[in-house]
Amino acid sequence: MATRGISILKGIEAKEVTELLNKAYCDEWLAYYQYFIESKVVKGIMKDAAIAELNQHAADELRHANMVADRILQLGGTPALHPKDWLTNSNCAYDAPEDPNVLSILEQSIKGEQCAISTYSALADITRGKDIVTYDIVSQILADEVEHEEDLQALYDDIHEFIAEIKKNIQ
Ligand SMILES: [Fe+2]
Ligand SMILES: [Fe+2]
Repeated sequence: MATRGISILKGIEAKEVTELLNKAYCDEWLAYYQYFIESKVVKGIMKDAAIAELNQHAADELRHANMVADRILQLGGTPALHPKDWLTNSNCAYDAPEDPNVLSILEQSIKGEQCAISTYSALADITRGKDIVTYDIVSQILADEVEHEEDLQALYDDIHEFIAEIKKNIQ
């Protein structure tokens, strides 16, 4: 454990930060798997565009898990060691893509991103001015999650519009 690195925390305990980061870490693994499996099972109109987006997001969530795990270790904590902890210790839970329709999958993913935005926004509020390094990491991740929500919503809207156009043309 790097004692000098921990000594720069002001008005917050490393344990509190690592506990919160561990919950976000569990969320990232669940988000990774959700995107991974969604990209496999998704069906319907413009599914290739959705698969490309879902795969990109899966890679980003795994990168976030990496960033968060490294920070937990720097603070003397231990990232969740067992996959069963992902479900019991998450903020955002896991939403299995039981309906493979592309619009349903995008709706589920948008909800997941909205939860991730709330989680990292709260973490930024808690660490602002108290733990600069964690604040910087969670701010970077927060920016990615905001972009994820926007990308998914834009794709959802495009598919909706495309379906409306087709319906108009066959009337
Ligand atoms: Fe993430
Ligand atoms: Fe995300």
